[in-house]
Amino acid sequence: MTSPFPSEDGRFPRLRKLLLGLGALGFIGLGGFLILSTNSAIAPITPPKPDSFNPEAVRRGGLLAHAGYCAACHTRTDGKPGAPLAGDYAMASPFGTFYSSNITPDPETGIGRWSEAAFRRAMHRGISRDGHYLYAVFPYPNFTKMSDQDISDLYAWLMTQPAVRQVPRHDQLPFPLGWRRLQFGWRLLFFRAGEYQPDPHKDAVWNRGAYLANGVSHCDACHTPRNVLGGLMKSRLYDGAPIDNWIAPPLNASNPAPAPWTEPDLFAYLSTGFTPLHGASAGPMAIVVHEGYAHLPEADVHAVATYFADLDHAAQRVGPAQAKIEEAMKTSGEGMSGPFLADTVRWGLNPAGAQFLGTGMRLARVTCGACHANFGPRPAPGRPALALSTALWLPEPTNLYQIMLRGFSADEGRVGWVMPSYYTALTNQEMAEIAAYLRATRTNLPPWTDLEKKAAEVRAEVVPPPLPAPQPAKER
Ligand code: HEC
Ligand code: HEC
Ligand code: HEC
Repeated sequence: MTSPFPSEDGRFPRLRKLLLGLGALGFIGLGGFLILSTNSAIAPITPPKPDSFNPEAVRRGGLLAHAGYCAACHTRTDGKPGAPLAGDYAMASPFGTFYSSNITPDPETGIGRWSEAAFRRAMHRGISRDGHYLYAVFPYPNFTKMSDQDISDLYAWLMTQPAVRQVPRHDQLPFPLGWRRLQFGWRLLFFRAGEYQPDPHKDAVWNRGAYLANGVSHCDACHTPRNVLGGLMKSRLYDGAPIDNWIAPPLNASNPAPAPWTEPDLFAYLSTGFTPLHGASAGPMAIVVHEGYAHLPEADVHAVATYFADLDHAAQRVGPAQAKIEEAMKTSGEGMSGPFLADTVRWGLNPAGAQFLGTGMRLARVTCGACHANFGPRPAPGRPALALSTALWLPEPTNLYQIMLRGFSADEGRVGWVMPSYYTALTNQEMAEIAAYLRATRTNLPPWTDLEKKAAEVRAEVVPPPLPAPQPAKER
């Protein structure tokens, strides 16, 4: 057998040289890569005393922590719930499961020994104190837009919170994603460091809204589609995206809801979790509202509302949308009790009634009608009009299914309002019938497909709500 790489006196001296050359280049390349992807550590400090921080800075930092929902991502919720900010919150992603860091001021397991400079580098550049790259599940590509002043206030707040000793679990990532240096390449492609630059064509309120939305509040991280490598598609900013088995709807003019998202609607939705012409904030969005915007000064909520009302071109759409809203409201009571009450009692509660009403209408009538039927030009208070809900107008039934399976507890959506969970009451087939019926009667869009299969997929991701403890039957 002859070797494919003959020796010095062999037949391919040129090829050999070329290969050696390429090998050397590769070696230099790898060396360069290792050098370029190595960051210096920032020296640890003696943990600063909480009373060394200006109380006003601490207060402002607390508001920023709400605006960035730090606690939501840095507090363990699965298994044994953890202390606030002590990390170990599990984040499933298409790339594997990440666990967040402990960001309490604990010197050993948290960030107690981090200087403000180390914290600023992490927030602005996604590099940990010891120099390793952080994954972009930590939204540093957004936090990079924050001002130095805001980072400094946030640091002051974090350093005055209770220190908790807790080591997070190890990330579960397939090889080679666990090699953090590979982030170097991802960053070259998708990360641009730099503080927010105001748009000179817009006023101060709009710019404040854009600064908060795209910076600390990272609204785009959920509401903008991503490519296969997990990079945000900047050309499709706020076009809507799947996230955690929900759909974060578009927040630009392609939002499909009949009513445009005006500034007052957005203000009400972000600060209370509900607005009559749209409905309630659910799932991940309930966290944005209740951990986030419900705590912020009104001026900041107005600023963010101003920014998104502009993206949605709401001002131009309000007039023309009136007809669409009226049209939708005409269908809001359709097939759901009201004038048909006698019918409902006679046929709705009786499975044989499906013969006269159709299965979807019969089920919607008995399960949803009592709370969702509307018969006026506007939804009645406490009765979200399903015809106006974005959940019915999205390309997939995902959010409608999530809501049916989970319902709303008193602290989600609008505080104090509840919707029961239908996790145990409805089968996937029944959910599919209701979804098909609502889509067909309350929108003018093409029917959803594979409804039963999708119901099973969403159900698989939902944790069943606890059943009430059985009560012993009372003696008569
Ligand atoms: C969407 C979830 C999410 C949100 C929101 C979030 N973080 Fe994190 N954060 C993470 C994850 C996950 C990590 C770990 C990243 C890694 O291991 O590469 C992390 C890491 C960090 C680190 C680095 C810690 C270390 O030891 O290297 C700091 C500092 C941090 N976060 C601060 C914050 C602050 C401050 C906020 C709020 C303004 C915040 N995070 C909001 C998910 C989040
Ligand atoms: C963690 C992911 C996540 C983040 C961050 C997030 N959203 Fe959402 N948002 C969602 C999901 C999922 C929904 C759909 C569920 C619902 O309607 O409540 C949603 C719904 C909405 C809706 C309702 C849209 C409609 O047509 O019904 C608005 C408005 C909205 N988000 C605005 C924002 C704003 C403003 C921010 C930033 C301050 C933000 N979101 C940040 C996930 C997110
Ligand atoms: C007991 C009353 C009740 C019943 C029955 C009920 N709902 Fe609801 N539903 C509510 C309330 C109240 C809200 C708003 C929750 C909040 O704001 O916290 C809501 C919210 C919703 C939303 C979100 C609206 C939006 O746009 O954000 C959808 C979708 C929904 N319900 C669908 C259904 C379907 C489908 C059924 C039947 C399977 C049903 N509901 C049965 C009371 C009910």
